[in-house]
Amino acid sequence: MGTILKVVDLTKDFGGLRAVDEVCFEVAAGTITGLIGPNGAGKTTTFNLLAGTFPPTAGRIAFDGQDITDLADFETFRRGLVRTFQIPRPFSGMTVLENLMTVPQDQLGERFWNNWVRGGAVRAQERRLREQAIDILEFLGLDHLGEAPAGDLSGGQLKLLELGRALMADPKMILLDEPGAGINPTLLGEIVERIAALNRRGITFLIIEHNMDLVMTLCDPILVMADGGLLMEGTADQVQQDPTVLDAFLGGVPA
Ligand SMILES: Nc1ncnc2c1ncn2[C@@H]1O[C@H](COP(=O)(O)OP(=O)(O)OP(=O)(O)O)[C@@H](O)[C@H]1O
Ligand SMILES: [Mg+2]
Repeated sequence: MGTILKVVDLTKDFGGLRAVDEVCFEVAAGTITGLIGPNGAGKTTTFNLLAGTFPPTAGRIAFDGQDITDLADFETFRRGLVRTFQIPRPFSGMTVLENLMTVPQDQLGERFWNNWVRGGAVRAQERRLREQAIDILEFLGLDHLGEAPAGDLSGGQLKLLELGRALMADPKMILLDEPGAGINPTLLGEIVERIAALNRRGITFLIIEHNMDLVMTLCDPILVMADGGLLMEGTADQVQQDPTVLDAFLGGVPA
Protein backbone atom coordinates (compact mmCIF):
# COMPACT_ATOMS: atom_id res chain seq x y z
CA MET A 1 0.00 0.00 0.00
CA GLY A 2 1.44 3.36 -1.01
CA THR A 3 1.68 6.61 0.89
CA ILE A 4 -1.06 9.11 0.10
CA LEU A 5 0.04 11.88 2.47
CA LYS A 6 3.53 12.71 3.63
CA VAL A 7 4.43 15.46 6.06
CA VAL A 8 8.01 16.52 6.71
CA ASP A 9 9.09 18.88 9.51
CA LEU A 10 5.72 20.62 9.49
CA THR A 11 5.82 23.71 11.70
CA LYS A 12 3.40 26.53 12.52
CA ASP A 13 4.08 29.55 14.69
CA PHE A 14 1.36 31.92 15.86
CA GLY A 15 3.46 34.88 17.01
CA GLY A 16 5.56 33.46 19.82
CA LEU A 17 3.53 30.26 20.13
CA ARG A 18 4.71 27.18 18.22
CA ALA A 19 1.44 25.30 17.66
CA VAL A 20 2.97 22.60 15.41
CA ASP A 21 6.60 21.70 15.93
CA GLU A 22 8.57 19.90 13.18
CA VAL A 23 6.03 17.14 12.78
CA CYS A 24 6.80 14.23 10.42
CA PHE A 25 4.39 11.45 9.51
CA GLU A 26 2.98 9.47 6.62
CA VAL A 27 -0.53 8.23 6.00
CA ALA A 28 -0.83 5.02 3.99
CA ALA A 29 -3.47 5.01 1.25
CA GLY A 30 -6.57 3.08 2.23
CA THR A 31 -6.17 3.47 6.00
CA ILE A 32 -8.30 5.12 8.64
CA THR A 33 -5.56 6.84 10.58
CA GLY A 34 -6.32 8.43 13.94
CA LEU A 35 -4.87 11.68 15.28
CA ILE A 36 -5.28 12.05 19.02
CA GLY A 37 -3.80 14.25 21.74
CA PRO A 38 -4.83 16.53 24.58
CA ASN A 39 -6.55 19.89 24.03
CA GLY A 40 -4.22 22.38 22.40
CA ALA A 41 -1.85 19.69 21.11
CA GLY A 42 -1.92 21.17 17.60
CA LYS A 43 -4.25 18.68 15.89
CA THR A 44 -6.66 21.15 14.28
CA THR A 45 -3.76 23.41 13.33
CA THR A 46 -2.19 20.43 11.56
CA PHE A 47 -5.44 19.93 9.61
CA ASN A 48 -5.48 23.62 8.70
CA LEU A 49 -1.98 23.28 7.29
CA LEU A 50 -2.74 20.06 5.39
CA ALA A 51 -5.88 21.48 3.83
CA GLY A 52 -4.27 24.81 2.93
CA THR A 53 -6.50 26.85 5.22
CA PHE A 54 -3.32 28.74 6.07
CA PRO A 55 0.33 28.14 5.14
CA PRO A 56 2.93 26.49 7.38
CA THR A 57 5.84 28.42 8.86
CA ALA A 58 8.13 25.63 7.66
CA GLY A 59 8.04 22.07 6.37
CA ARG A 60 6.61 20.26 3.36
CA ILE A 61 3.38 18.42 2.61
CA ALA A 62 2.99 15.93 -0.26
CA PHE A 63 -0.39 14.51 -1.27
CA ASP A 64 -0.89 11.82 -3.86
CA GLY A 65 2.71 12.16 -5.05
CA GLN A 66 2.69 15.94 -5.43
CA ASP A 67 3.91 18.79 -3.27
CA ILE A 68 0.88 20.73 -1.98
CA THR A 69 2.62 22.82 0.68
CA ASP A 70 1.82 26.13 -0.94
CA LEU A 71 -1.66 25.33 -2.22
CA ALA A 72 -4.74 27.17 -0.95
CA ASP A 73 -7.74 25.29 0.42
CA PHE A 74 -9.76 25.34 -2.79
CA GLU A 75 -6.80 23.82 -4.62
CA THR A 76 -6.24 20.94 -2.17
CA PHE A 77 -10.00 20.39 -2.28
CA ARG A 78 -9.91 20.12 -6.05
CA ARG A 79 -7.16 17.52 -5.81
CA GLY A 80 -9.27 15.35 -3.56
CA LEU A 81 -7.97 16.28 -0.11
CA VAL A 82 -11.00 17.50 1.81
CA ARG A 83 -11.44 18.53 5.43
CA THR A 84 -14.39 19.00 7.74
CA PHE A 85 -14.53 21.55 10.53
CA GLN A 86 -14.44 20.91 14.28
CA ILE A 87 -17.43 23.25 14.51
CA PRO A 88 -19.74 22.59 11.54
CA ARG A 89 -20.34 25.67 9.42
CA PRO A 90 -23.54 25.12 7.45
CA PHE A 91 -25.41 27.82 5.57
CA SER A 92 -28.21 27.79 8.14
CA GLY A 93 -30.80 29.52 5.97
CA MET A 94 -30.36 27.10 3.07
CA THR A 95 -31.85 23.64 2.91
CA VAL A 96 -29.77 20.57 3.61
CA LEU A 97 -29.81 19.70 -0.11
CA GLU A 98 -28.72 23.21 -1.08
CA ASN A 99 -25.86 23.02 1.42
CA LEU A 100 -24.51 20.04 -0.49
CA MET A 101 -25.08 21.65 -3.87
CA THR A 102 -23.13 24.78 -2.97
CA VAL A 103 -19.95 22.80 -2.45
CA PRO A 104 -17.57 24.32 -4.99
CA GLN A 105 -17.12 22.16 -8.07
CA ASP A 106 -16.12 24.75 -10.61
CA GLN A 107 -19.80 25.45 -10.87
CA LEU A 108 -20.60 26.70 -14.32
CA GLY A 109 -23.87 28.23 -13.20
CA GLU A 110 -22.23 30.84 -11.04
CA ARG A 111 -20.73 32.67 -13.96
CA PHE A 112 -23.07 35.02 -15.73
CA TRP A 113 -21.63 34.45 -19.17
CA ASN A 114 -21.97 30.73 -18.83
CA ASN A 115 -25.56 31.13 -17.75
CA TRP A 116 -26.34 33.18 -20.77
CA VAL A 117 -24.42 31.36 -23.44
CA ARG A 118 -24.46 27.82 -22.13
CA GLY A 119 -27.82 27.49 -20.38
CA GLY A 120 -28.14 23.85 -21.41
CA ALA A 121 -24.79 22.87 -19.95
CA VAL A 122 -25.57 24.72 -16.73
CA ARG A 123 -28.90 22.97 -16.29
CA ALA A 124 -27.35 19.58 -17.01
CA GLN A 125 -24.65 20.24 -14.43
CA GLU A 126 -27.18 21.37 -11.83
CA ARG A 127 -29.16 18.21 -12.41
CA ARG A 128 -26.04 16.12 -11.93
CA LEU A 129 -25.13 18.01 -8.74
CA ARG A 130 -28.66 17.53 -7.38
CA GLU A 131 -28.61 13.79 -8.13
CA GLN A 132 -25.23 13.41 -6.47
CA ALA A 133 -26.45 15.37 -3.43
CA ILE A 134 -29.57 13.19 -3.14
CA ASP A 135 -27.47 10.01 -3.38
CA ILE A 136 -25.21 11.26 -0.61
CA LEU A 137 -28.15 12.22 1.62
CA GLU A 138 -29.56 8.71 1.14
CA PHE A 139 -26.22 7.16 2.02
CA LEU A 140 -26.07 9.28 5.18
CA GLY A 141 -29.69 8.57 6.12
CA LEU A 142 -30.56 12.27 5.84
CA ASP A 143 -32.72 12.03 2.72
CA HIS A 144 -35.91 12.84 4.67
CA LEU A 145 -34.30 16.16 5.67
CA GLY A 146 -33.25 17.34 2.21
CA GLU A 147 -35.72 20.23 2.18
CA ALA A 148 -35.25 21.18 5.86
CA PRO A 149 -33.24 24.32 6.70
CA ALA A 150 -29.75 23.24 7.77
CA GLY A 151 -30.20 25.42 10.85
CA ASP A 152 -32.82 22.95 12.13
CA LEU A 153 -30.42 19.98 12.26
CA SER A 154 -29.17 18.49 15.53
CA GLY A 155 -25.45 18.53 16.36
CA GLY A 156 -25.04 14.96 15.17
CA GLN A 157 -26.94 15.56 11.94
CA LEU A 158 -24.72 18.58 11.27
CA LYS A 159 -21.69 16.31 11.61
CA LEU A 160 -23.22 14.02 8.99
CA LEU A 161 -23.91 17.03 6.76
CA GLU A 162 -20.24 18.02 7.08
CA LEU A 163 -19.30 14.52 5.92
CA GLY A 164 -21.80 14.87 3.07
CA ARG A 165 -20.24 18.13 1.94
CA ALA A 166 -16.85 16.42 1.89
CA LEU A 167 -18.29 13.58 -0.20
CA MET A 168 -19.60 16.02 -2.81
CA ALA A 169 -15.96 16.64 -3.75
CA ASP A 170 -15.47 12.98 -4.70
CA PRO A 171 -12.47 12.94 -2.35
CA LYS A 172 -9.48 10.62 -2.22
CA MET A 173 -8.84 11.52 1.39
CA ILE A 174 -11.01 13.10 4.09
CA LEU A 175 -9.73 14.88 7.18
CA LEU A 176 -12.40 14.63 9.88
CA ASP A 177 -12.08 16.96 12.87
CA GLU A 178 -13.91 15.36 15.81
CA PRO A 179 -16.76 13.62 13.97
CA GLY A 180 -17.93 12.13 17.28
CA ALA A 181 -18.03 15.31 19.37
CA GLY A 182 -21.37 15.99 21.04
CA ILE A 183 -23.15 13.11 19.35
CA ASN A 184 -25.52 10.63 20.97
CA PRO A 185 -24.36 6.98 20.96
CA THR A 186 -26.86 5.87 18.28
CA LEU A 187 -25.80 8.50 15.79
CA LEU A 188 -22.16 7.89 16.70
CA GLY A 189 -22.58 4.25 15.69
CA GLU A 190 -24.08 5.36 12.39
CA ILE A 191 -21.21 7.71 11.68
CA VAL A 192 -18.70 4.98 12.48
CA GLU A 193 -20.47 2.60 10.06
CA ARG A 194 -20.51 5.19 7.30
CA ILE A 195 -16.84 6.02 7.68
CA ALA A 196 -16.01 2.31 7.51
CA ALA A 197 -18.20 1.88 4.41
CA LEU A 198 -16.57 4.84 2.65
CA ASN A 199 -13.17 3.48 3.57
CA ARG A 200 -14.07 0.13 1.98
CA ARG A 201 -14.86 2.09 -1.19
CA GLY A 202 -11.30 3.37 -1.15
CA ILE A 203 -11.38 6.71 0.67
CA THR A 204 -8.49 7.28 3.07
CA PHE A 205 -9.31 8.98 6.39
CA LEU A 206 -7.33 10.96 8.92
CA ILE A 207 -9.51 11.48 11.98
CA ILE A 208 -9.02 13.78 14.96
CA GLU A 209 -11.10 12.47 17.82
CA HIS A 210 -11.33 12.57 21.61
CA ASN A 211 -13.88 9.75 21.80
CA MET A 212 -11.60 6.78 22.45
CA ASP A 213 -14.32 4.23 21.57
CA LEU A 214 -14.48 5.69 18.08
CA VAL A 215 -10.70 5.88 17.76
CA MET A 216 -10.05 2.37 19.01
CA THR A 217 -12.83 0.87 16.85
CA LEU A 218 -11.96 2.60 13.61
CA CYS A 219 -8.40 3.81 13.55
CA ASP A 220 -5.23 1.97 12.67
CA PRO A 221 -2.63 3.30 12.98
CA ILE A 222 -3.00 6.09 15.52
CA LEU A 223 -0.79 9.20 15.65
CA VAL A 224 -0.41 10.91 19.00
CA MET A 225 0.37 14.62 19.27
CA ALA A 226 1.25 16.57 22.40
CA ASP A 227 2.52 20.09 22.77
CA GLY A 228 2.80 20.63 19.02
CA GLY A 229 4.97 17.57 18.45
CA LEU A 230 4.34 14.02 17.31
CA LEU A 231 4.70 11.83 20.38
CA MET A 232 4.29 8.40 18.80
CA GLU A 233 2.55 6.28 16.19
CA GLY A 234 1.16 2.83 16.83
CA THR A 235 -1.78 0.48 16.94
CA ALA A 236 -4.61 1.05 19.40
CA ASP A 237 -2.99 -1.43 21.82
CA GLN A 238 0.45 0.14 21.54
CA VAL A 239 -0.90 3.64 22.08
CA GLN A 240 -3.01 2.61 25.07
CA GLN A 241 -0.05 0.91 26.74
CA ASP A 242 2.49 3.66 26.11
CA PRO A 243 3.43 5.50 29.33
CA THR A 244 4.39 8.73 27.51
CA VAL A 245 0.89 8.85 25.97
CA LEU A 246 -0.69 8.40 29.37
CA ASP A 247 1.49 11.19 30.75
CA ALA A 248 0.52 13.52 27.93
CA PHE A 249 -3.19 12.97 28.57
CA LEU A 250 -2.77 13.39 32.31
CA GLY A 251 -1.23 16.81 31.77
CA GLY A 252 2.44 16.14 31.31
CA VAL A 253 3.15 14.50 34.66
CA PRO A 254 6.83 13.47 34.47
CA ALA A 255 7.38 9.71 34.27
N1 LIG B 1 -5.42 31.00 14.67
C1 LIG B 1 -4.71 30.88 15.81
N2 LIG B 1 -4.05 31.93 16.33
C2 LIG B 1 -3.32 31.81 17.45
N3 LIG B 1 -3.18 30.67 18.14
C3 LIG B 1 -3.82 29.58 17.68
C4 LIG B 1 -4.62 29.63 16.50
N4 LIG B 1 -5.12 28.38 16.28
C5 LIG B 1 -4.67 27.61 17.27
N5 LIG B 1 -3.88 28.33 18.13
C6 LIG B 1 -3.18 27.79 19.30
O1 LIG B 1 -2.39 26.69 18.86
C7 LIG B 1 -2.41 25.63 19.81
C8 LIG B 1 -2.93 24.38 19.15
O2 LIG B 1 -4.30 24.53 18.89
P1 LIG B 1 -5.18 23.48 18.09
O3 LIG B 1 -6.51 24.08 17.85
O4 LIG B 1 -4.42 23.02 16.90
O5 LIG B 1 -5.29 22.30 19.16
P2 LIG B 1 -6.11 20.94 19.10
O6 LIG B 1 -5.13 19.83 19.28
O7 LIG B 1 -6.97 20.90 17.90
O8 LIG B 1 -7.00 21.05 20.42
P3 LIG B 1 -8.53 20.58 20.70
O9 LIG B 1 -8.45 19.12 21.00
O10 LIG B 1 -8.91 21.36 21.92
O11 LIG B 1 -9.36 20.90 19.52
C9 LIG B 1 -3.26 26.12 20.97
O12 LIG B 1 -2.40 26.66 21.94
C10 LIG B 1 -4.13 27.19 20.35
O13 LIG B 1 -4.51 28.15 21.30
MG1 LIG C 1 -8.99 20.87 17.58
